Amino acid sequence: MTGISKSFFGVKVLDHVDLSVRPGEVHALLGENGAGKSTLMNILAGVYHRDAGQVVFQGKPLENTTVHSSEEAGIAFVHQELNLFNDLRVYENVFLRKEIVRPFGVLAKKEMIRRTRELMRQLGVDINPSDMVSELDTSKKQQLEIAKALFAKAELIILDEPTTSLNSDEIDILFGLVDRLKAQGKSFIFISHKMQEVFRIADRFTVLRNGQLIHTGDIRDVDPTQVARMMVGSQYTDQSVYEARELGEVVLETRRLSGEGFHEVDLSIRRGEIVGFTGLKGAGISELFATIFGVLPIKSGQLLLFGQEMKGNSVRQAMRSRLSMIAANRKENSIIPDFSLLENFYVSEHRLSSKRPLIAVKGELRRYKTHRDALSIRANSAFDMITSLSGGNQQKVILARWLNTQADILLLDNPTQGIDVGSKAEIYGLIQQLALSGKTILVNTLEIPEIMKMADRCVVFYHGRVHSILQRDEIAEERVMIAATNAIKSEVHA
Ligand SMILES: Nc1ncnc2c1ncn2[C@@H]1O[C@H](COP(=O)(O)OP(=O)(O)OP(=O)(O)O)[C@@H](O)[C@H]1O
Ligand SMILES: [Mg+2]
Repeated sequence: MTGISKSFFGVKVLDHVDLSVRPGEVHALLGENGAGKSTLMNILAGVYHRDAGQVVFQGKPLENTTVHSSEEAGIAFVHQELNLFNDLRVYENVFLRKEIVRPFGVLAKKEMIRRTRELMRQLGVDINPSDMVSELDTSKKQQLEIAKALFAKAELIILDEPTTSLNSDEIDILFGLVDRLKAQGKSFIFISHKMQEVFRIADRFTVLRNGQLIHTGDIRDVDPTQVARMMVGSQYTDQSVYEARELGEVVLETRRLSGEGFHEVDLSIRRGEIVGFTGLKGAGISELFATIFGVLPIKSGQLLLFGQEMKGNSVRQAMRSRLSMIAANRKENSIIPDFSLLENFYVSEHRLSSKRPLIAVKGELRRYKTHRDALSIRANSAFDMITSLSGGNQQKVILARWLNTQADILLLDNPTQGIDVGSKAEIYGLIQQLALSGKTILVNTLEIPEIMKMADRCVVFYHGRVHSILQRDEIAEERVMIAATNAIKSEVHA
């Protein structure tokens, strides 16, 4: 791609950008939220038309690219927000628009199932062709997207933040697949805000900032701090934001609490405390958060909020008890795609304050602007559709939504998904400020450094149970990993 430019409504988001990818390489495309990464990929894949520039793929120029023609040429795009049909079966997704049709328009269902099974077998992916896509977890959906791309004979596969809702075993599976395909000469463009992953999988990299090309080179020649600096400009720092605080009374307590996916959890969390939670696949933390927030039912045991037992828990009751929660998977659980940014922002707070049946746009706008500035949300107008925002900026709107309810206890499940390194540091600072002002924060994350930067304690789950609870001075990456994989015996239930 050479000299690619693109504007939306007169705002230039790509300015003469070049990008080149070689056969059999993984090329990392890096940059802050809103830098233009997804837009550049949307141009390559024919979703958007470029205003200027050339695209040449395998020696052939691509003109007036459409989604169909780029696919035909051998380019597959696994979107930041996955694009499968939940209400169709796996094989139906694979064969979408490529159905095998027998005379009289009869679909060759058995044949399509057989070929899908064969495809999954070749890729070493464990997915049943007849399953409904809605029943697959995010990791399986990710694998299915890649399988679909390969089925369409793609030579270049674009992965736009493929790991944001995957845990570490699932990431290993994905990277194993990428490695095997790379060895067969397939190329990848890999977008991620997780430096560790970039350095593990990429051969070369390109950095964009404000729609401009900043640098392109070999990943061997740089270190993560240098790359982060290229992304955000010079002011990047990666320091811990932790400040010791006076903790208050116990505000959240669980007594042998069991629910879907977790068992007999005993926790006691104080006002002003920041508690990091982590664990591997099926550890049960998301389910615990969802149960505390009233999304999933309590099976047995007790949940106490501010000293009061919650019976027959519900989201309404949780919100009224001054809880808020950011769910793990933005697209499926948080974004309302048909709403504007502003509407997405105020829905929760408005639901809570039944005293105001009508929506006073001016007031909502004022509240939104305070959060926009605190979180540096990048958007043209509050009335834009949420889907026109870059992924990281959508996530910030969701954060703003739940900060706006002024809750005293915040359950944050993977809150920095898709957020760039610079903004992540700002969000850690913000969480610290909230704790200083007496809010209690529970964060579920797979990134242990994230916990080390801000948490008072770290709760490690293993197979639905609390394995260990580490105090701040005991939190170290290796120690947490050992607990999360149960490499040493539980320190709590021993
Ligand atoms: N359909 C659209 N309409 C209007 N503006 C858009 C549209 N798509 C993207 N933009 C704008 O273009 C800019 C670049 O967005 P893009 O999605 O390419 O960023 P990104 O680098 O992928 O960021 P992130 O890391 O947050 O995903 C943003 O300011 C975004 O709001
Ligand atoms: Mg993006």
